[in-house]
Amino acid sequence: MAKLHTIENAYLLIEHDHIVAFGPDQECPVDRADEVIDCLGKMVLPAFCDSHTHLVFAAWRENEFVDRAKGISYEEIAKKGGGILNSATKLQEASEDFLFDQALIRLHEVMHMGTGAIEIKSGYGLTVESELKILRVIRRLKEQKLIPIKASFLGAHAMPAIYKTDRPGYIRLITKEMLPQIADQGLADYIDVFCDKGFYTVEETDQILEAGARFGLKPKIHANELDYSGGIQVGVRHKAISVDHLQWTGQEEIDALQSGETIATILPSTAFFLGLSYAPARKMIDNNLCVALASDYNPGSSPSGNMSFILSLACIKLKMVPAEAINALTINGAAAMESGDRLGSITPLKSANIIITKPVSSLAFLPYSFGSSWIDRVILRGKPI
Ligand code: NIG
Ligand code: FE
Repeated sequence: MAKLHTIENAYLLIEHDHIVAFGPDQECPVDRADEVIDCLGKMVLPAFCDSHTHLVFAAWRENEFVDRAKGISYEEIAKKGGGILNSATKLQEASEDFLFDQALIRLHEVMHMGTGAIEIKSGYGLTVESELKILRVIRRLKEQKLIPIKASFLGAHAMPAIYKTDRPGYIRLITKEMLPQIADQGLADYIDVFCDKGFYTVEETDQILEAGARFGLKPKIHANELDYSGGIQVGVRHKAISVDHLQWTGQEEIDALQSGETIATILPSTAFFLGLSYAPARKMIDNNLCVALASDYNPGSSPSGNMSFILSLACIKLKMVPAEAINALTINGAAAMESGDRLGSITPLKSANIIITKPVSSLAFLPYSFGSSWIDRVILRGKPI
């Protein structure tokens, strides 16, 4: 992961929406170019691939943010009906058009911050109608053809209050009502479960992932954000594309990840925003795991989709070196959306999704200058945005 192939004084040729060639400047086929962008002193990077977001939601939750500043914990807020359940109530009341308009604004926002592909989850619906509503919004976002989007069905995000004493009842709703309709309408690419303390148990996760598999949905799950939940092991057992969060990862979890192909996705802005401990990224990479980084953009635990900030957090808090962090935000993020063949690196035939930086002295300057905007231009599918 620490290898980032670079060429100094390079050219890059884009045709329509894809990369055609690159190489040393002296070999630049200038006669083939209709338009030339001079990047003197700048860097050209692949656009970010954000493989974990909750971009569709009805309202922000800054009141809970203030409650936390006063010392109430994220888990306490959730227990009092705040948190995900609060977002679900608001979303159930919101119209599909409103949700679409709001999500589209956020999608444009992250594209301008360099995101060139994104995964978006449901999970703030928690009823048959509202889960389908979010997934339809994601489908409409896909239809805009702005950037590649993957949709994950996260009906098992929290337990709705009315099922508190009938957990199997809600799981039946997921497996027997939601999943068949979602599969029938082709609304999801993946299935997700929040397998963690106070949310879904390993047994429940097992059941839901098994049902998902019957409908052809591969897992990408939330695991070990709040405790050693067994989520990593159950994800690996079900051949999840990725397990995400992973603050609570010990040797057993690392062994499990080494035994399979599941990508370890770390979401450091959640740990930052909630004041939780960080995932042991260094240990994971030193154990040869494939680590991806994503934003977790959502109103409760990471109200920002700024991947430049994730890059800084990765180096400052996770002790990743800049090259590792860039790989985790690009090619490994693409792999965590099964899109590594078309996205995530500057490679001929891949989509022309690139970031041009302002003039910078080195790669390290990007994470180092945290909070500053070092992006000059973003080109997605061959077009400046
Ligand atoms: O990834 N961990 C679970 N779900 C989301 C955020 C939930 C919320 O507070 O809205 C996450 O952090
Ligand atoms: Fe999440």
